[in-house]
Amino acid sequence: MSACISLSSKVAIVTGGGRGIGKAIAKRLAEAGADVVIASRKLENLEATAHELSSLPGQVVPIACHIGRLDQLENLVCETEKRLGPVDILVNNGATNIGQGPSLDVTDEMLDKMVEINIKAALRLVRLTVPKMIDRKSGGSIINISSIAGLHPQPEGLLYSFTKAGLIMMTRSWAREFGPHGVRVNAIAPGLIQTDFSEILWKNEMYQQAIKTTQPIRRIGQPDDISYAALYLASDEASFVTGQVIVLDGGAIA
Ligand SMILES: NC(=O)c1ccc[n+]([C@@H]2O[C@H](COP(=O)([O-])OP(=O)(O)OC[C@H]3O[C@@H](n4cnc5c(N)ncnc54)[C@H](OP(=O)(O)O)[C@@H]3O)[C@@H](O)[C@H]2O)c1
Repeated sequence: MSACISLSSKVAIVTGGGRGIGKAIAKRLAEAGADVVIASRKLENLEATAHELSSLPGQVVPIACHIGRLDQLENLVCETEKRLGPVDILVNNGATNIGQGPSLDVTDEMLDKMVEINIKAALRLVRLTVPKMIDRKSGGSIINISSIAGLHPQPEGLLYSFTKAGLIMMTRSWAREFGPHGVRVNAIAPGLIQTDFSEILWKNEMYQQAIKTTQPIRRIGQPDDISYAALYLASDEASFVTGQVIVLDGGAIA
């Protein structure tokens, strides 16, 4: 797919781009020629990833950023613009999952943290990038990494499902608002993907059995399964696609 899709001269930010799904997306975008900033808290990890991807046509630039901190998000966008140019593609991928458990055990602090990282960071980054995309009249693509947990409640996953559902509704609202200005906004809802984030699930015998016996595609998803959809949504080939949620789950919720 990357052979025909070109993102050359595009600039992208991928939060949580140092590992897992974010890394696979960053790789795919840079392969297609985009210059990509990967951003998360651990600079060492980002640098290792940037080094690993250094032979791709697009540059991969690591910038440390805690996405829960407004000043660090402002710095992320400012540094990206300074080093690579204005942002065309924003992938809101970084996320956390605390507060898994019975909903009656959820505290205010857990709620605030989940909103700060999984919702507010996307809102802030959109606020920091989209007005400039609109002013430049050069289009733009926002890709929000949600989850099938945002479409169906997960066992003991109140906060995660709620934040991922919120991201879907933000996607659709933004799509309506920004579409007339040429900025597209879409979400991807992965099922179980083999990363550090979901280790507790895919290492669980019960989940492995369920995948082998009931999921239409009888294997666990890989970060690369998500990256091709992100590449498409980032590209001009998807210029008629906005406000959508692409479910990539091996048919799990079918
Ligand atoms: N894996 C799955 O089964 C699955 C399923 C559905 C949806 N998703 C979604 O896919 C996205 C990527 O998850 P993944 O599975 O690839 O997980 P992962 O490998 O654990 O990656 C999560 C990324 O988020 C970054 N991050 C976490 N907290 C951050 C913070 N406060 N500030 C900046 N960066 C932060 C992490 O980097 P640092 O630690 O360096 O900050 C890491 O790069 C998430 O939105 C997740 O909800 C995953």
